[in-house]
Amino acid sequence: MDPLHALTLQREFLKDHIRQAVDFSLTEQARGLPPPPLQKPVPTGAYLIDLPKSTALTCAQSTSLYEAINNRRSRRKFTDQPLSLEELAWLLWATQGIQRVFRGGSAFRTVPSAGARHAFETYLALTRVEGIPPALYRYLPVDHQLVREREVPDLGSRCAEAALDQGFVADAAVTFIWTALPRRMEWRYGLAAHKVILLDAGHVGQNLYLACEAIHAGTCTLAAYDQDQMDTLIGVDGAEEFAVYLAPVGKVK
Ligand SMILES: Cc1cc2nc3c(=O)[nH]c(=O)nc-3n(C[C@H](O)[C@H](O)[C@H](O)COP(=O)(O)O)c2cc1C
Repeated sequence: MDPLHALTLQREFLKDHIRQAVDFSLTEQARGLPPPPLQKPVPTGAYLIDLPKSTALTCAQSTSLYEAINNRRSRRKFTDQPLSLEELAWLLWATQGIQRVFRGGSAFRTVPSAGARHAFETYLALTRVEGIPPALYRYLPVDHQLVREREVPDLGSRCAEAALDQGFVADAAVTFIWTALPRRMEWRYGLAAHKVILLDAGHVGQNLYLACEAIHAGTCTLAAYDQDQMDTLIGVDGAEEFAVYLAPVGKVK
């Protein structure tokens, strides 16, 4: 197909999404169906790691909000220094931490989300965090814990390959991989869900940028990755759940 024609078609498709011509009376919420859970279940017997509570975190207190915003940059050069567990906990809390859970099954988090639906899970390709064996983990925001998904040989390099060979990804101490579970948002917004899921991802990325600046770490959010390769690497089905955004993180000079 002529590339210009393809762009025009795709643009129409985008506009149709933005238009939100949706009959909200047809959504699962309007039909009285229960919402999907806030976080994916944890398999019985899984290896769990408790994270320091956000109220006890001291690692980020010396940087002002002005400095964090003013210094923010996409960083692609990381040192060999590991992150501490406290620093990792800070970054997870800043990007997806839960402040309040409501009886109806929604929650307030440190980032905004359309209808407080929060359609993301956070996977960590973790290679250099003090006290945590390298492996693929998932953040459990309700419990502020990590669950080990599985060990993956050469995880950093595999992640870089899946990120279309962007080599600096392999140097990260940890790469955040956010997946979307569209049903969490569709439950309330039906066809209008897909626009707001991607808008939500931007807020998560920006909080990670600012939270990194506060601890002398850096990140560079990535949208360039091979969808199937990344979904396979993190072990999601690519239908009910798939990767939407990535962010390698490391200490910077
Ligand atoms: C949605 C999004 C996707 C991006 N994808 C990539 C990427 O795949 N690779 C990369 O090196 N940088 C990526 N970036 C970083 C941009 O290149 C960067 O934000 C831009 O060059 C401006 O630099 P600054 O962030 O330091 O202001 C992405 C940024 C955003 C917001």
